[in-house]
Amino acid sequence: MPFENIIVETRGQVGLITLNRPKALNALCAALIRELGQALDTFEADAEIGAIVLTGSEKAFAAGADIKEMASKSYMDAYLEDFITNGWERVTKCRKPVIAAVAGYALGGGCEMAMMCDFILAADTAKFGQPEITIGTIPGAGGTQRLTRAVGKSKAMEMVLTGRMMDAAEAERAGLVSRIVPAADLLDETIKVAERIASMSRPIVYMAKEAVNAAFETTLAQGVHLERRLFQSAFATEDQKEGMAAFSEKRSPAFKNR
Ligand code: HXC
Repeated sequence: MPFENIIVETRGQVGLITLNRPKALNALCAALIRELGQALDTFEADAEIGAIVLTGSEKAFAAGADIKEMASKSYMDAYLEDFITNGWERVTKCRKPVIAAVAGYALGGGCEMAMMCDFILAADTAKFGQPEITIGTIPGAGGTQRLTRAVGKSKAMEMVLTGRMMDAAEAERAGLVSRIVPAADLLDETIKVAERIASMSRPIVYMAKEAVNAAFETTLAQGVHLERRLFQSAFATEDQKEGMAAFSEKRSPAFKNR
């Protein structure tokens, strides 16, 4: 499929999407968001793909929503197109795990897009921020909510009110990213992690992801209840039988995604 704003490739069982508007530091324009949605639809429908990696360039994962495209919108434009529901949240609807590999700037909508992924691996060059306040607006793609849940109220409030950026070390300390890797190794390391996930049983991966995500949407009691039911339903899979038999027989499991 020809794309203008992203590069879409596969690496074994991993779907790789690279944001590719180098002249605009991967600013997330409407066309890019549309293409991203199409690429995610394709990978979700492809039985060979078990995990997806979303990345940008060395300099920027994405420096935000496209300010030049947004600048002249009226309230009625924003309201009628339901800016930004339209397309932006596609990544949160994926059943396959989506890993953000972030180097350089992840600002505004770029930070929000990374936070919509299931987890973030950061290069030591990564910088996260919600600088919307410096251009007279506020985060609009979940930043005030997901950043607060990830790093707590104090740090999120300071970042959203001042536009201050966090470097990779601070982001790791605060729990925004799962870990930091040297910039030169970021993509290889992220693909390795994605390949490991893709090698697990597909239905069990879906269950695990659904259960962890429930922690953000439910009470503790509801989340634990869902986890228990999903855990129990894992016993209905062939892959649970295979995984536990393989352990006893001291061999690697051969999952069938059943
Ligand atoms: C459009 C952008 C852009 C953006 C950078 N560019 N960010 N274009 N939208 N978000 C463009 C610049 O205009 C410039 O193009 C080129 O990319 C290189 O950027 P420079 O500013 O020259 O680079 P540098 O000096 O290295 O500074 C990097 C930077 C700065 C610190 C990241 O670009 C910056 O502050 N960008 C804006 C960050 C921001 O405010 N993001 C939040 C956006 S609001 P030209 O053609 O001029 O050379 C948002 C709301 C989300 O995301 C809500 C949900 C939709």
